[in-house]
Amino acid sequence: MKILVTGGAGYIGSHTCVELLQNGYEVIVVDNLCNSKEESLRRVQEITGKSLSFYKVDLLDRDHLDEVFSKHSIQAVVHFAGFKSMGESVSIPLKYFHNNVSGTLILLEVMKKYNIHNFVFSSSAGVYGDVKIVPIPEKAPLGVLNPYSRTKLMIEDILRDLYIAEQAWNIAILRYFNPVGAHPSGKIGEDPNDIPNNLTPYVAQVAIGRRPFVRVWGNDYPTPDGTGIRDYIHIMDLAAGHIKALEKLERNLGLVTYNLGTGRGYSVLEVITAFEKACQQKIPYKIMDRRPGDAAISYADPTKANLELNWYAKRTLEDMCIDTWLWQSQNPCGYP
Ligand code: NAD
Ligand code: WQD
Repeated sequence: MKILVTGGAGYIGSHTCVELLQNGYEVIVVDNLCNSKEESLRRVQEITGKSLSFYKVDLLDRDHLDEVFSKHSIQAVVHFAGFKSMGESVSIPLKYFHNNVSGTLILLEVMKKYNIHNFVFSSSAGVYGDVKIVPIPEKAPLGVLNPYSRTKLMIEDILRDLYIAEQAWNIAILRYFNPVGAHPSGKIGEDPNDIPNNLTPYVAQVAIGRRPFVRVWGNDYPTPDGTGIRDYIHIMDLAAGHIKALEKLERNLGLVTYNLGTGRGYSVLEVITAFEKACQQKIPYKIMDRRPGDAAISYADPTKANLELNWYAKRTLEDMCIDTWLWQSQNPCGYP
């Protein structure tokens, strides 16, 4: 089965390509490399011993995207391509709406032209907005706190409307919690361009000596140690969720929505302690003011994905830290 992976050179995309190739799928990647390097795809092929096709194409470039569809008999699309910085989306919202929403619309239109209706979409826990009750089930109220998350909610709404109008579509909306870690080979991992916003890449850069200390955003939350609690999920468990979603779509089940999380939360200080154990060194940190817009606690109720997809997050926080450290220590400055 041939799968088109948009954004396949990026963090989640590259790990999912490994999982797809290892499960016997043929993979075609479309990525404009605006936030990734082709080296990630070379390494995906090295890890799996299998080859994939790569097209350096922007989703907004309809003609070149169309050409890719005309060359391959694609059966499903896994759509990762998009911008993902919440902070940047607050200062440059139009950039986010244009790339994420318009890019998705063009992709869906080209799919429709080629009569391809199987679609897996990368949504985010960001669509739950200001979290009031944990664990968060899929039926929790939706709302957003920034333009990035709004692009995800808008695309979800577009997909729901599309499915109401045209039931030929099979759509899986996957809401990721906090993806972390790396492939256990240490060959591929998360490679942020600038100063990392997210916790684990920041901790890893402190451990490797690129930054002096971790800035812990607040220790006065109503949590046991006062720091924020999140549902960190190993990137290979997340990647496996996409295979399960594709298998579900092959059975023509319409539009489905799943949380991909572990169902258990860890605090910032627990993550730092687990990372210290993985890299066997002290990680200096300083308590700072809260980061605006951060929730105290967020973690998933993954029961629906467990029961309907037979998908379970298997890897522990320890695995996440060990694999992140292997990637970071083998690639101190990311991909060459
Ligand atoms: P990433 O930036 O590493 O990967 C995204 C890829 O898309 C990059 O390779 C980038 O070059 C490509 N891209 C962006 N715009 C494009 C366009 N117009 N045309 C072609 N390629 C384009 O990000 P990631 O962490 O791998 O995230 C993948 C998806 O998952 C994104 O949609 C993101 O919003 C979503 N998501 C990520 C997280 C997370 O914490 N990483 C959590 C929830 C949801
Ligand atoms: C985790 C915890 C911070 C950095 C967002 C989106 C989510 C997904 C991932 C895209 C929080 C604390 C962080 C640091 C810290 N993205 N922290 N020092 O904000 O939970 O999730 O990114 O869709 O959907 O919501 O992730 O890794 O930034 O923060 O203390 O330098 O670590 O306050 O408690 P977040 P994060």
